[in-house]
Amino acid sequence: MSAVRLARGYTGRDLLIKFEGCYHGHVDSLMVSSGSGLATFGIASSPGIPQDTVATTLVAPLDDIDAVEYLFNEHGDDIAAVVIEPLPANNGLLVQRHEYLAKLREFCDKHGALLIFDEVISGFRFKDGSYGDICGVTPDITALGKVIGGGLPVGAYGARSEIMENLSPLGPVYQAGTLSGNPLAMAAGMMTLDLLDDDAYDRLEELGQLLQSKVEPVLEKHGNPMRFIRRGSLFWFSPGSEEPPARADLIPKTAGKLYSDVHKGLLEKGYMLAPSAYEIGFIATVHEEQHILGMVQALDEVLAEMEW
Ligand SMILES: Cc1ncc(COP(=O)(O)O)c(C=O)c1O
Repeated sequence: MSAVRLARGYTGRDLLIKFEGCYHGHVDSLMVSSGSGLATFGIASSPGIPQDTVATTLVAPLDDIDAVEYLFNEHGDDIAAVVIEPLPANNGLLVQRHEYLAKLREFCDKHGALLIFDEVISGFRFKDGSYGDICGVTPDITALGKVIGGGLPVGAYGARSEIMENLSPLGPVYQAGTLSGNPLAMAAGMMTLDLLDDDAYDRLEELGQLLQSKVEPVLEKHGNPMRFIRRGSLFWFSPGSEEPPARADLIPKTAGKLYSDVHKGLLEKGYMLAPSAYEIGFIATVHEEQHILGMVQALDEVLAEMEW
C-alpha cells in the first residue's frame, strides 16, 4: 500500500498496471481480478472495495507483452506504476521470461512510470540476491515481507534515494503505522537474516535438488498427472502433463479436484502440502533429507492408489 502511494506521489499519476494471478496483499486498489480478454479495467474481487478505487487499476495477463504495450499506448501519461511479482507465487509458480520482465522495465522508462517488484514471497529466498537481481532487471521500488520478519508480520519497501526522499517527514507522501518499525519484528527479522548465511542457502538448494531429482521420476512413472517446478526453495505441482504455464488462465480447470485428492492422500500419510492447488510449497532450513524422501515416497503411493 505504501509503495503504491509512494509511486503515485512521486509520479503525480493515479493509474496502476497489475497482472492477473499476482497478489499484492489486501490493499483495496490491488484486490482486482482481470476480466476475460486482452486486458481490462479491474473488477473488485471483494465486497467492500469501491468501484472508484479499482477503476484506477488496469489488469493484464502475465507473459503477454502486447497487452502491456496496449495499456501504455492507451493510458501511458497517467500510469504511475507497473506492479508485479517478478516470480509470481500466489497462483501457482508462474515463472516469467526474463525478456518479459526486461520489456516491462523498458515500457516504464519510456512512459515515465515506476516499476515495482513485489518480492514479498521471493525476497531473500536466493543466495545471489533478489529475484530481480537474478533476472538482471532492476525495479524502481522493491517490496519485501515474510522472510525479513523471521515469522513475525512485517512489510518493507525500498527505492533509490531520489524516490524515497518523497516520503514524510522529508517529503509530502505520508507514511506511518502502529506497527511501523515494530522492535520485536525487527529483532526477529535481523536474527533470521543473520542465520541465512551462504551455508543455509546452499543447504536449501541441495534439498531442492534432492526433491526435484526424486519427484520427477515418480510423476513420470504415473503418467505426469502434474509437473514439478522449482525455483530455489519454492516449488509447485503444476496440474496436467503440459509444461507449467506462465499465465494464470492457462492452469487447467481440473486443477482443484486433482490436487485435493493428492493433498488428502498425502495428509493421511502424514505430509501436509498447502491446502490449495494454487498455493506453492516452501523448503525450510528445518527440513531434512528424510522429510523430502518420505514425502516423495508417500506421493508415489498416493498416485498409485488414485490410479485404481
Ligand atoms: C506477493 C505478496 N505481496 C504482498 C503480500 C502482503 O499482503 P498483506 O500485507 O495484505 O498480508 C503478500 C501476502 O501474502 C504476498 O504474497
